[in-house]
Amino acid sequence: MIIFLIGFMGSGKSTLGKRLARKIDYRFIDMDQYLEEKEGMKVSEIFKQKGEMYFRDMEKVFLETLETNDNVVIATGGGAPCWGQNMDIMNRKGVTVYLKMSPGSLAIRLEKSHNIRPLIEGLNPDLLRDYIEQKLHEREPFYNKAQCIVRGENVKPFHVSSLVFGDD
Ligand code: S3P
Repeated sequence: MIIFLIGFMGSGKSTLGKRLARKIDYRFIDMDQYLEEKEGMKVSEIFKQKGEMYFRDMEKVFLETLETNDNVVIATGGGAPCWGQNMDIMNRKGVTVYLKMSPGSLAIRLEKSHNIRPLIEGLNPDLLRDYIEQKLHEREPFYNKAQCIVRGENVKPFHVSSLVFGDD
């Protein structure tokens, strides 16, 4: 089975994904990292040198070509569910879990790491907060198509595994 963790930048998809995969003995793929390795450059460089649409196309091809006969947890990029048919593809190929977080929690986390994320690079705290509120508003209709929704603030691997497998 494929378990897709989705949610806004900074919602903790990669950290939780690694722990969840270890707990349930699945492989783990960090989608951004996979695409960085494929392209031989950081996501921020891909955005700068090739443009956002090139990156969105890489995300789409990655999801379209995923084999479904694999046990894997995938931490997706925050924008991936919000382009084209990606959310439908993920819902068809596996189980989608949305790590839902408030704009305030996201702002606190992203202030520490905004310089490595091309869409929010260099924003001051006020602009960052505005950006998160607006973007989350635009993106939630996509995220809300997830089959499972959990609050991301204090989520633990067992919360997700019990939702997905109905055990624990
Ligand atoms: C993006 C989120 C990033 C990365 C890229 C674009 C977005 O992933 O894919 O910078 O559009 O929200 P994370 O959610 O892992 O930061």
